[in-house]
Amino acid sequence: MTKLSVNINKIATLRNARGGNNPDVIKVALDIEKFGSDGITVHPRPDERHITKNDVYELQKVIKTEFNIEGYPDERYLSIIKDTKPSQATLVPDKPEQLTSNHGWDTIKNNKELTDIIKTLKILSPTSRVSVFIDAKPDMVKGARDCGADRVELYTQSYAENYLRNKEKAIENFVKAAQCAKDCGLGLNAGHDLSLENLEYFHKTIPYLDEVSIGHALVCDSLYYGLENTIKMYLSCLK
Ligand code: PXP
Repeated sequence: MTKLSVNINKIATLRNARGGNNPDVIKVALDIEKFGSDGITVHPRPDERHITKNDVYELQKVIKTEFNIEGYPDERYLSIIKDTKPSQATLVPDKPEQLTSNHGWDTIKNNKELTDIIKTLKILSPTSRVSVFIDAKPDMVKGARDCGADRVELYTQSYAENYLRNKEKAIENFVKAAQCAKDCGLGLNAGHDLSLENLEYFHKTIPYLDEVSIGHALVCDSLYYGLENTIKMYLSCLK
């Protein structure tokens, strides 16, 4: 079964636009769980432009499903993981000022850095699975395995971009990388620009996907369909 983890950064962006507590990020997260999501993802960036450190601590107290915390592994991120011990820590190579993740780790070039960080994470939070965000390339998958990762998350932006032109071609590299992850004994996640349009084909073609993490399109769709319907629609793409 492929799990759906809903990224709630955009809910926090909306709240922060007015400085109050509307929408209430904690309530929305709990409703997302109630509507059937298998997990909640957050990316607490240092500038706190969406999810804040305080949000993460409050969420950790109430989330009953999988809690996935993404981030660049600096001191702040490591301390959040140590304090909150989420189900999953997803390492992204973003600079703090980056608008959104736009590439995966080079797991070969950054082997030492990633190996040290993963070792540290395993000491700080032994129960947290560590996933490394990578481009869909078998070399990067093997590199992640060599660093001690439990999972990889494939960066799906190029799949989403090319899907409408030629979906068979768009998914080719993802099938190869996914097969490599399976052969390496790594779990497999995917995320970025997945949507109601392109998710079903991705899931159907790569059936041993453990989890997808989806934010932007899901929040946009919920403006039209409502949050509960939207979550059910995404879940039905993963059946
Ligand atoms: N995975 C990672 C590592 C991300 O940084 C993001 C965006 O925050 C996502 C998944 C979700 O992407 P989207 O918001 O396009 O669904």
